[in-house]
Amino acid sequence: MFHSATRVASALIALVCLTAVAFSLTLMAQPSGAGSGRGKELYEKHCAECHGSSGQGDGPAAQLLMPRPRDFTGGKYKLRSTETGSIPTDDDLLRAVRQGLQGTSMPACDKLLSEVDIRAVVTYLKTLSRRFGAEAPQPVQVAPKVTERPGDIGRGAAIYEKLQCGKCHGSDGRGTGAAATSFEDDWRQPLRATDLTEPWTFRGGTAPIDVFMRFRTGMSGTPCRPSRTLQPTRRCGTWRTMCSPSSGSPPGR
Ligand code: HEC
Ligand code: HEC
Repeated sequence: MFHSATRVASALIALVCLTAVAFSLTLMAQPSGAGSGRGKELYEKHCAECHGSSGQGDGPAAQLLMPRPRDFTGGKYKLRSTETGSIPTDDDLLRAVRQGLQGTSMPACDKLLSEVDIRAVVTYLKTLSRRFGAEAPQPVQVAPKVTERPGDIGRGAAIYEKLQCGKCHGSDGRGTGAAATSFEDDWRQPLRATDLTEPWTFRGGTAPIDVFMRFRTGMSGTPCRPSRTLQPTRRCGTWRTMCSPSSGSPPGR
């Protein structure tokens, strides 16, 4: 009697342990972890309308929007601090969701959602593309802070010319003399080369580091390709040139 009670008890303990192991394995198998249930719920409520319930960028509002909402299934993102072709970091995604994308319908969610909820929805977002489970993001190595030197704007203008940025953005940043300013992105949607004299339309922000990241890593899915060859000091000049329109003078002047 005593023995069988002990046996039952140890069988029970074993069962409890097994269940616990199975449960934690299930959690480990889901890259999203505990955030997924809540993340999915938030996604359905706040994102699916534009990005579509399976993340294909085909929500009911999508047809009306220009640019179109991102299709998340390919893991291809415009705003990254990672190498060309790499998936973005969690911070890249968190930032886009917190701050929104200037000049587009992508809203800033930091007033609407708590930080915990923003993290949950980003965790869920990553489950919409297989790439996040299979690859690691490759962050760009940023040189130590480069201080501005006299003449940087002029040097930047020369680089702007050398790299033929004007082929799409025009000699004045406004499209003047450009070979083409209208394109199609990888999702077959029409796209215009950004007017560089309107920095408030830059999707990824106008701080020097933001502009630097856009042309260092490229904007995946668009014809704006990366420029990997620039030395840090030179890059500094180019982004100064590009930020100068905000103070009223177009690049190259
Ligand atoms: C009103 C429509 C709308 C809603 C709602 C919306 N988005 Fe977006 N989102 C967009 C558009 C449009 C873009 C693409 C802009 C572009 O291509 O420049 C975008 C882009 C993004 C990007 C950046 C993609 C990149 O390439 O770097 C992320 C991340 C994102 N959305 C996440 C979300 C999440 C998460 C939610 C819900 C909390 C959400 N969005 C809600 C319209 C929306
Ligand atoms: C082949 C055409 C092409 C060339 C060459 C090109 N761009 Fe672009 N660029 C684009 C297009 C198209 C966009 C708009 C992307 C979008 O809206 O998603 C863009 C967007 C940008 C943006 C806006 C970033 C943001 O956050 O929204 C900046 C800044 C920029 N380009 C700088 C440059 C610089 C600097 C060069 C030269 C090194 C350059 N581009 C070369 C086509 C080009």
